[in-house]
Amino acid sequence: MLETIDSTNDEALRRINTGVVGGEVILARRQTAGRGRHGQTWESPPGNLYLSITVDPPDGRPVGELAFVAGLAAAEAIEAATGGNVRVMLKWPNDLMHAGRKLGGLLIEGATGTGVRTLAVGLGVNLVSFPENASYPATSLAEAGCRVEAIAVAQAFHNHLDGWLRNWANNCFEPVRTAWLARAAGLGGELVVHLPDGKEWIGLFQDIDEQGALVLQTENGMTRTVTAGAIFSVTG
Ligand code: BTN
Repeated sequence: MLETIDSTNDEALRRINTGVVGGEVILARRQTAGRGRHGQTWESPPGNLYLSITVDPPDGRPVGELAFVAGLAAAEAIEAATGGNVRVMLKWPNDLMHAGRKLGGLLIEGATGTGVRTLAVGLGVNLVSFPENASYPATSLAEAGCRVEAIAVAQAFHNHLDGWLRNWANNCFEPVRTAWLARAAGLGGELVVHLPDGKEWIGLFQDIDEQGALVLQTENGMTRTVTAGAIFSVTG
C-alpha cells in the first residue's frame, strides 16, 4: 500500500499513459488531491479506502456500461468484506449507499493518450470517517457498526470486478442491468435530476434501459430518458 499519493486515479492514469494495461492495482492510505465526480473534492484522510484498478473493457461493449459493472462489484465487495452485515444499494449510476446515505463512490476515467482503451476505475469507501458537509448525506462502515480493513475491501473488489468483467464480456449488459436494478436505490420513487444547464427534471424512477440510461416518468405521464452524460446530479 502507498502511504500518500495525490490521487490513486491520477497515479493509474500516469501508469496507463506509460503503457500499463488492465489489472494494475493502486491502493493508498491517504490522498492529497482525491477527486470525486462532477469535479468535486474527495476528502481522503487515513483510515478509509482509496483504490484504483486499471481495466480494459471488453471489445464491442460501450465503455459507459462499466459504471454499472464497477458499481455492482463494489457493492458486492463491501457486503462480502462485512460478512453480509451491511446492505449496499446503488444510486444511479454508481454511488454506494447504505441506509439512505452515501458510503462511497466510483470515478472512472480515461487516459489522455490517443487510442488508449485502458481505463482507471477509482473506488473510495468511507470505512471509519465521512465528510459532515458533503453535497449528499454520508455515512461510514464504522457508523454502521462494522470495522473492516481497507485491504479486505480492496481484495474483494478486485475479485468481484474480475467476475463481473467476465460476465459482462460473455453475456453483454443484460445480467448487469438486472443485478443493478435489484440494488437500485429509490426505484419507483421520486427523483430530481439536475442538468448541467441548471434545469431540473422531476419524475418517478421507473427503470434503466438497455444502455443504462435512467428512465423517468414525469408528472404529465411522459417518459424521459436521461443518459449519464446529460446529468449533473440525482437526488431522491
Ligand atoms: C464520487 O464522487 O462519488 C466518486 C468518488 C471516487 C473517489 C475515489 S478514491 C480513489 C480514487 N482516487 C480519486 O481521486 N478518486 C477515486
